[in-house]
Amino acid sequence: MVQIKACLFDLDGVIVDTAKYHYIAWKELAQELGFDFTEEDNERLKGVSRMRSLDILLEIGNKSLSEQEKLHYADKKNVNYVSYIQKMEEDEILPGVKEFLTSLRANGIKIALGSASKNAPLILNQIGLTSYFDEIVDGNSVSKAKPDPEVFTKGANLLNVTAEECVVFEDAVAGIEAAKAGGMYCIGVGEEETLSEADFVIKGFDEMSLDRLKF
Ligand code: G6P
Ligand code: MG
Repeated sequence: MVQIKACLFDLDGVIVDTAKYHYIAWKELAQELGFDFTEEDNERLKGVSRMRSLDILLEIGNKSLSEQEKLHYADKKNVNYVSYIQKMEEDEILPGVKEFLTSLRANGIKIALGSASKNAPLILNQIGLTSYFDEIVDGNSVSKAKPDPEVFTKGANLLNVTAEECVVFEDAVAGIEAAKAGGMYCIGVGEEETLSEADFVIKGFDEMSLDRLKF
């Protein structure tokens, strides 16, 4: 049996449902650029970095922009997105998450964040979870986006644990690929059909307990 010493959490879609705010902000940008952006399109942006998300959006709208214009619009979308997340409160933490984090801490299991978002510190602060995390690795501190394992490998290094001693929680296919590429056990959060590359899948943290970390 492997002794699990750390849990690494993705943020968007695992701890909070920020996808809905990303969706509104991208949709508003698409409309400004003269095309529509659907909820189904938004699925393609989960776990994907801000600039790559913009590229996908432009591909959907069949638009091409200069690098400078892209930076301008990515920034504009972010200002809009931040206006939504600045209103987030503790009640937006997904069911069971806080209880699970509390039980990890009580049992000496280390906790790190492994998110592609540059807004991760702001979101954790808004929902009052910052102090639960021993380390935060986010879009400001990695150079390679998921599915590259950098975000999780860096987290494990900061926590002083090996890949085999970590469990990653992820809702995005790219994130699961990142965890597996880093040699880590990965629990998918969401739908079994979409997250089939994960070692096992839970619908939410209400289903999670420390016992499920023994394998
Ligand atoms: C997460 C989300 C993505 C988002 C990315 C960057 O991975 O799932 O949808 O594009 O973070 O977020 P940011 O807050 O830096 O724009
Ligand atoms: Mg996610």
